Amino acid sequence: MRIAVPSETEAAEPRVAATPETVKKFIGLGAEVSVQAGAGRKSSIADDEYAAVGAVIAPDAAAALRDADLVLCVHRPKPDDLVGVKDGAAVLAIADPYDHQDALKAVAEKKVRLFAMELMPRITRAQVMDVLSSQANLAGYRAVIDAAAEYGRVFPMMMTAAGTVPAAKIFIMGVGVAGLQAIATARRLGGIVTATDVRPATKEQVVSLGAKFIAVEDEEFKEAETAGGYAKQMSPAYQAKQAELTASHLAKQDIVITTALIPGRPAPVLITADMVKSMRAGSVIVDLAVERGGNCALSKPGETIVTDNGVHIVGFTNVAARQPATASALYARNLFAFAETLIDKETKALKIDDADELVKATLLTKGGALVHPNFQATAA
Ligand code: NAI
Repeated sequence: MRIAVPSETEAAEPRVAATPETVKKFIGLGAEVSVQAGAGRKSSIADDEYAAVGAVIAPDAAAALRDADLVLCVHRPKPDDLVGVKDGAAVLAIADPYDHQDALKAVAEKKVRLFAMELMPRITRAQVMDVLSSQANLAGYRAVIDAAAEYGRVFPMMMTAAGTVPAAKIFIMGVGVAGLQAIATARRLGGIVTATDVRPATKEQVVSLGAKFIAVEDEEFKEAETAGGYAKQMSPAYQAKQAELTASHLAKQDIVITTALIPGRPAPVLITADMVKSMRAGSVIVDLAVERGGNCALSKPGETIVTDNGVHIVGFTNVAARQPATASALYARNLFAFAETLIDKETKALKIDDADELVKATLLTKGGALVHPNFQATAA
């Protein structure tokens, strides 16, 4: 079985889908692994490190992909990036399937089986394969580091010979995977942390991390979590109450990190332009939801802006990849854990069980067609 690790084709993507650690494990399963020269460079992994564990370093993408049974990617490859792979080859990637039917169809025509890692079900067995969690955790960490870098003051209270400086007040909006890590990181840096979410289960988590929970805890709040553990879209009445509560709190904050998302919908706007106006000069907002429309009305993807009243609004995209070596290490482990389930240990060949719930949840294309139930109808 041949496994290919091509370089990512988007110049802005520094991650790589396999590390020497995972390549070694694949070779241990009896695979031949071909890594495109330079694939790990932006994640600080030299070709020699892959070669040292037994990978073949391919001079270009075509050589890496030739006769591949399994292709490991960060982003969904373009059809032209799959030339030379075997019919039926498995391609594992963050496939970004929503609203990209045409692109998915074009990949399907390459007769590969494209798996969307972000559709992995959040069940115990698949936790180790959960790329959303592994990357959101790093994004939450990085948001605090980016906020600290942008902030013209310090996080911890400092008592010095020159006098005392107060601790920064940090407010985390949205306490999923990214928000929890942001709370923990902000606390480690010595900030005074508060947090909010619409899911009641988060209250205990916030308190257990040493932060204070702030939310409108009415009847609707008690019902706000779906069976899948995600947030529901809240009613306009709830949103108005939430805005009233957060407006007065926001005005007193130095740093605000927003991470609020609702699956399949644009991110909720939690910070209006007026709320930004109420904040002090030098305060920082880091909007991790900026790629999904933003939790702050003024944030812009890929930009840091400073408003007329001196509030810094940070809109970095692909935030997990701002620490590419760690992001790649975790992503590669997620991929290995899933890929291992697709490999027959006896025959050392690909063996994909279409009845497996992980396969059913993530397989987008097969035999030239889009096969995922969520995308098939519209694409036919
Ligand atoms: P997410 O990225 O979809 O959303 C981030 C947070 O924003 C969520 O906590 C959500 O409740 C919150 N939010 C949405 N609307 C809001 C609003 N108007 N105001 C304030 N907050 C708002 O969430 P993520 O990080 O993907 O986690 C979702 C759930 O999945 C959580 O319950 C988490 O514990 C669970 N999970 C389960 C895993 C497993 O069992 N394998 C792995 C990872 C997460």
